[in-house]
Amino acid sequence: MAGKRGALIVLEGVDKAGKTTQCHKLVQALQQSGRPAEMMRFPDRTTTIGQLIGAYLENRSELEDHTVHLLFSANRWELVPLMKRKLEQGTTLVVDRYAFSGVAFTSAKPAFSLDWCKQPDIGLPKPDLVMFLQLNPYEAALRGQFGKERYETGVFQGAVQEKFEQLMTDPSINWQVIDASQDIEDVHRGITEHSLKAMNAAQNLPLGELWK
Ligand code: TYD
Ligand code: MG
Repeated sequence: MAGKRGALIVLEGVDKAGKTTQCHKLVQALQQSGRPAEMMRFPDRTTTIGQLIGAYLENRSELEDHTVHLLFSANRWELVPLMKRKLEQGTTLVVDRYAFSGVAFTSAKPAFSLDWCKQPDIGLPKPDLVMFLQLNPYEAALRGQFGKERYETGVFQGAVQEKFEQLMTDPSINWQVIDASQDIEDVHRGITEHSLKAMNAAQNLPLGELWK
C-alpha cells in the first residue's frame, strides 16, 4: 500500500497578523514530533515569474492589474508539480498565503469581481485546512508601521479584509478563524491543534481541486 499523503495547510490573513512567524513555528513543531513538514510561501519570489512580482511589489516596476493577477496565479501553478510530489511523499506543506490572498488582494481593486479573480486558480491543489489569522486594524497598528511595499496601506488592507470575509463564507473550504491578537504561544497551540486534526483526516482522502 502506498504511504499516507501529507496535508496542505494554508495560513492567510491581513498584514501583521503573524502568518510567517506562525508558519515557521508550526513546521518546527511538526518536525520535532517526527512528522515531515516543509514551509512554502506565495509569492515565491525566487522564480523568474516571482522576480517580476517582486519588482512590482517593491514599486520597481509597473504592471497592468489583470496581468499581475495572472502572474501571481502562474507563480502558484509553476510550483504545483513540486507540491504534489512532496504531498505524495508524505510531507505536510505549510503555506504562507495562497490563492485566497490572490483573490482578496486583486478583487480589492476597483472593477474586479471576486468571480473573475478566482478563475485562474480553479483546480489548484485544494488545501485541507485554511487558517485565517484575524487581527483588527487597531491591533495591527499597535504592531508598528506598514512597510513600503505596494498594498501596505491601512485603507487597502481594510478592503482586502472585506474580501477575505466574503471568501470565508464558502463552505467548500475548511476555514478556521484564529484570533491573532492572542499571545504567540496561544496562537501557535490553536494552529497546531487544527493542523493535527486536518493531517489525520487528509491521510485517508485524495487531494482535492480548489473551487471545482
Ligand atoms: P509578502 O511580503 O511576500 O508577504 P507578507 O506581506 O505576508 O509578508 O508580500 C506579498 C504581497 O503580495 C502581499 O501584499 C499580498 C500580495 N499578494 C497578492 O496580491 N496576490 C497573491 O496572489 C499573493 C500570494 C499575495
Ligand atoms: Mg510584505
